[in-house]
Amino acid sequence: MSAPSADTLDARYYTDPSVYERERLGLMARTWQFAGHESEVARIGDYFTFQVAGESLFCIRGRDGVLRTFYNVCQHRAHQLVEGAGSTRFVICPYHAWTYELSGKLRGGPNLRAVPGFDKNSVCLTAVRTEIFHGFIFVNLDPDAAPMDVWYPGVRDALAEYVPHIATLKPLEWVIIDEACNWKVSIENYSECYHCTINHPTFATGVVRPETYDIRPQEAGFVLRHTTECQSLEAMPYEIDLSVPHAQEYCSYFLWPMFSFQVYPGNVLNTYHWRATGVDSCTVWRGWYTENGWDDDAIRRLAIQDRATTVEEDIRLVESVQRGLRSRGYRPAPLVIDPAFGVNSEHSILKLREWMREAVDG
Ligand code: FES
Ligand SMILES: [Fe+2]
Repeated sequence: MSAPSADTLDARYYTDPSVYERERLGLMARTWQFAGHESEVARIGDYFTFQVAGESLFCIRGRDGVLRTFYNVCQHRAHQLVEGAGSTRFVICPYHAWTYELSGKLRGGPNLRAVPGFDKNSVCLTAVRTEIFHGFIFVNLDPDAAPMDVWYPGVRDALAEYVPHIATLKPLEWVIIDEACNWKVSIENYSECYHCTINHPTFATGVVRPETYDIRPQEAGFVLRHTTECQSLEAMPYEIDLSVPHAQEYCSYFLWPMFSFQVYPGNVLNTYHWRATGVDSCTVWRGWYTENGWDDDAIRRLAIQDRATTVEEDIRLVESVQRGLRSRGYRPAPLVIDPAFGVNSEHSILKLREWMREAVDG
């Protein structure tokens, strides 16, 4: 029996393959998921493939300059259309060479004229809802999904304030991290700093000042907001221009369910995004950005330091938790909810569990 507390979430939510399958077909198919950065598809015909909810998709830049996302499946007999990333004049299926315009319309195919009454205008690749958020491409498999500004009110403006040069940023590198845990374990770990002082000496004595750390759900929408002052601007491995507003602060905007914008002191943008790969595995990407994607030793050093410290420390935590959730000896206990909020409160876990439970149980 689990403890009779409103904040508990049974271990099966993290270990049961049928719960994961429900999330994949439900939650992941009707929420905004990160696809990539606009600069990766800057020119006409540029494309890249990616996976959401077990579906292969691709983003491609049209002749009209519009960025579109399609399911990566030919409408003839369902062969996959493209792989990896590249640039092309038309999308040509490798199976029987049906050819599509960059807009998704069928352009032609071998011997199609022999089919009486065949109307090629009736065939088009299946499009997926796509939004650009400060250059970051998000998709939603639900054609009726509310726009991102409804899901995440105020975040677009807040980011522009914290990262005034955001429009000039391009990815410098992606750090890819495989974690042997359910995606929700990783997200919950990301969303509290109750564990930081004991487990993240570098983060907690440099990037953030634990006494000022606060993570709480935004009043509206599906956003968790982290704010804190920087503990030690001198400990940051790069120059900080204090004349820029918010240069001394750290903040993070977590967009339910699997993306987060983080701003390090000095207005340095970096991101997290997660992809669930099974009930007990997920992959996390740390994105680091510079103006025009120009090389920057300091940012590369920061990415290396982050991978070697905070990321490594978190992997050990989340993988241990996943093992523990499979233990017969685990009984869920109440969360630590401090009415005064602060670094040692788990308010955001409570909110996440509400969203998680709703996603599975409706
Ligand atoms: S499946 Fe694509 S052309 Fe036949
Ligand atoms: Fe952590």
